[in-house]
Amino acid sequence: MCGIVGVLGHHEVAPLLVEALKRLEYRGYDSAGIATVNGGKLDRRRAVGKLVNLSDLLVHDPLPGKAGIGHTRWATHGGPVIKNAHPHRAGPVAVVHNGIIENFRELREELAASGYVQESDTDTEAVALLVRRAMDAGATPVEAARETLSRLHGAFALCFLFDGEEDLLIAARKGSPLAIGHGEGEMFVGSDAIALAPMTDRITYLEEGDWAVVTRKGAEIFDAAGRRANRPETRIHLDATRIEKAGYKHFMAKEIAEQPVVLADALKHYTSARGTLELPEALSFKGIDRVTLVACGTASYACHVAKYWFEQIAGLPAEVDVASEFRYRDPVLSPASMAVFVSQSGETADTLAALRHVKEKVARVVSVVNVPTSSIARESDLALPILAGVEVGVASTKAFTCQLTVLALMALKAAQDRGTIDAATLARRLEDLRALPGLMNAALGLSDPIARIAKDLAKAQDILFLGRGPMFPLALEGALKLKEISYIHAEGYASGELKHGPIALIDAAVPVIVLAPKDALFDKTVSNMQEVMARNGKVLLLSDAEGVETAAQGTWKTLTLPPVAPLWAPILYAIPAQLLAYHTAIAKGTDVDQPRNLAKSVTVE
Ligand code: F6R
Repeated sequence: MCGIVGVLGHHEVAPLLVEALKRLEYRGYDSAGIATVNGGKLDRRRAVGKLVNLSDLLVHDPLPGKAGIGHTRWATHGGPVIKNAHPHRAGPVAVVHNGIIENFRELREELAASGYVQESDTDTEAVALLVRRAMDAGATPVEAARETLSRLHGAFALCFLFDGEEDLLIAARKGSPLAIGHGEGEMFVGSDAIALAPMTDRITYLEEGDWAVVTRKGAEIFDAAGRRANRPETRIHLDATRIEKAGYKHFMAKEIAEQPVVLADALKHYTSARGTLELPEALSFKGIDRVTLVACGTASYACHVAKYWFEQIAGLPAEVDVASEFRYRDPVLSPASMAVFVSQSGETADTLAALRHVKEKVARVVSVVNVPTSSIARESDLALPILAGVEVGVASTKAFTCQLTVLALMALKAAQDRGTIDAATLARRLEDLRALPGLMNAALGLSDPIARIAKDLAKAQDILFLGRGPMFPLALEGALKLKEISYIHAEGYASGELKHGPIALIDAAVPVIVLAPKDALFDKTVSNMQEVMARNGKVLLLSDAEGVETAAQGTWKTLTLPPVAPLWAPILYAIPAQLLAYHTAIAKGTDVDQPRNLAKSVTVE
């Protein structure tokens, strides 16, 4: 699960490769490397850790050349050490790889038996050695690459560069996306169009099983059967400027703060001021008997919240699955159902595979994505962009609340199509949604008190989050956010479930964060909170003015949010949950934007 890039340029390519890798660092930051051909000679530089280490290395030890490939790594096979960093080289070939070669063990043994022994622990080096062996036996680079590709099982995107070949890249896609960029007498290869945005907006996406011979004149594309394939060139409108922190200390802080604005943008895009929905016509729930929502991580918690909405507002049965389970569990699907795939990146391997799994089995495949050019968007019948803008922080924040917003609008559309909502109620619900940006601004004002509370939270070993109804998935999300950036163990529970086991964990050292807007379930949540306090539990209560007044007695701390329409409370309460994670991570001194072991886009299963 990595980012790959290739450039056949007019000028030195090292700076272009590093710039493209910067835009791909969301795919992993365990190590980075580039290779170029200069004066016919293939050479490479690699560095462990973030891209900045490679940039520093290149200052002291530059790598000239007008043809090159680059890689940013999220370790799958072999730890993040220099010998495992890409590009991998074997004699005349260097290769960068995203994905997993599933049969690499057999290949490694076969290669070793014929005298081609690996130096690294990676699956990728076997690919380089296969090419080398073929070339040693007299194959041309193109023949050697073709023969090698036919031996590989798994999901991969690859880009090859050859010694003595200053006008040749070979690119291949199976399972992992790959884009080819067209310049004026220059050509590019990248894991996505975003990486290539500063260099070109003319993109050709390789299709499943395609491979391409790329020279400065263009790309000759072949399909899996080896036939010449015509793939369309499209113009992609992406912001080529570098994404900056705009004065914030971290991208995550900036992205949390941006939520009122991006949410308002999304609402403006999908609703009218008259109080009506403005969703694409193709999003029809007429005749749909069930919604199946599939996603991973934070996006799956957005789906869990939406399940409450689809059922409560539209009376439409909804089920939620994490994509990694869904794709292998033979789900029973109704042909009249709608499958909804939610993904910030639109490239998550499990979600994409789940989408392909249901494509022919349901009435409609809809995706809710932040990247409209992504694989998931392109492969669905209808893609609804969440319009959150580029999200850089690995911990998802503004994408989560924008996903929730689009899912809320979808649930309202389902209600409208099924006749379970009248125009006045719909207008009121939309009005409540439109109030959210203002309420979020007020919630952002809690940042300072949260920073003070976080100093204590940072000392905890375990933290629990509790919520009921649609606040239960938010408790799961609050816990995920906290553990991924502060490395503190945290769990979310449905408040009513606590006494069925987890209450055994409660003592004075375990902070319990209770998410309790003043809704129909408030009294029940407060009863569960009392059960915690009766066992010396240290409760941080998040509620609105009315709730805090009723229930704050005996709590460790309280945070007061503005009153909010209960239905949409998870969208508002996401803000303090995110701020709690952010400030706890700051108090612990962890890497907020690029936490250990994670990557922004998970392109391996
Ligand atoms: C957590 C987080 C992840 C992602 C998950 C799915 O903060 O960001 O849990 O939500 O990896 O990613 P996408 O939405 O890109 O499919």
